[in-house]
Amino acid sequence: YETFMEKEIAEQPFVIKETLRSRIEDHILMPELDDLAMEDIHAIYMIACGTAYHASLYAQYLGREWLSIPIQCVPASEFRYGNYPVDEHSLCLFVSQSGETADTLAALKACKKKNAKTIAVCNVLDSSISRIADTTLYTCAGPEIAVASTKAYTTQLTLLACIMLKLAELAKVEVNGYDQLLHDLKALPETIESMLGMEAQMKGYASFLKEQQDAYFIGRQLDYVSVLEGALKLKEISYVHADAYYAGELKHGPIALIEEGTVVIALATQKDVASKTISNIEETIARGANVILIKAKGVHSDKIAHQIEIPDIHPYLACLPATILLQQFALWSAKEKGCNVDQPRNLAKSVTVE
Ligand code: AGP
Repeated sequence: YETFMEKEIAEQPFVIKETLRSRIEDHILMPELDDLAMEDIHAIYMIACGTAYHASLYAQYLGREWLSIPIQCVPASEFRYGNYPVDEHSLCLFVSQSGETADTLAALKACKKKNAKTIAVCNVLDSSISRIADTTLYTCAGPEIAVASTKAYTTQLTLLACIMLKLAELAKVEVNGYDQLLHDLKALPETIESMLGMEAQMKGYASFLKEQQDAYFIGRQLDYVSVLEGALKLKEISYVHADAYYAGELKHGPIALIEEGTVVIALATQKDVASKTISNIEETIARGANVILIKAKGVHSDKIAHQIEIPDIHPYLACLPATILLQQFALWSAKEKGCNVDQPRNLAKSVTVE
């Protein structure tokens, strides 16, 4: 591979398979959490930074869907200085690829001091965060060299889906579509493999940014998590100013930014809100936007010129194939601009200082 990022994007089917290894039979196998008494938990906090924060937003969404316990996702740099009601009835999850991020480590220490139950999701064995948390669950992404996180993120999403399913089981909650979720989790390596084959199409779309310095990502519900991550990938390696918006929020201000040729990357993988997103997208087209739509099967619009469809998958897992496409879009946008894909300016792989 020319860059580590390309290698790490290509490794995702394998490392997702490794992360799922021995985790799924006809239920989730997660003995690390078997002793967790969910009846003692009155609040759940998801705490992380950057891409790991986006993975935590994903877990927050699933937790809100499945658990009757308040769940809040907070960037670690905010959490450590905020006044959050944490006590022995709080379950705090810390997601960190490196396990060394200063803000996340500080937030973990603060929660430990307040006797919270702490779970870490890390990619590095024996990292600082993994040594301090009560329990650590490991993604099996292997070393991630490129500063822009790819395989660590998708293995975080995969493991967090398993963790939230496990918490639902411990809380004795019946999850709708449980069998379909397990089936589609097991099939993730093949699903992701198929998305790697879409690279040429995403590479073609990346040329849309040649003359552009701004890009807007829009989506609703879980698609918003994916567009946050897609915007971060693009900005951190291509230096294009990229922002993510809730599609429904466009009319409350951001649509003023849309003009002839503005690039909009839209996600409509959540069928229950897809038609609303399509009408938001068509509003931007009416103002000259050049739209790329990543959508689920069965979502239609004859006004959107550039469309790419993800394979049939449970909507709660659709962010994984969609993210592969957004990673490829960012990678080729950065290459087109001659940027240093693996070592972008101003950034470090692990932010071990405040
Ligand atoms: C993601 O592409 C960035 N490299 C950055 O946002 C990263 O996710 C963040 O610094 C958190 O790092 P961690 O997962 O090692 O804690």
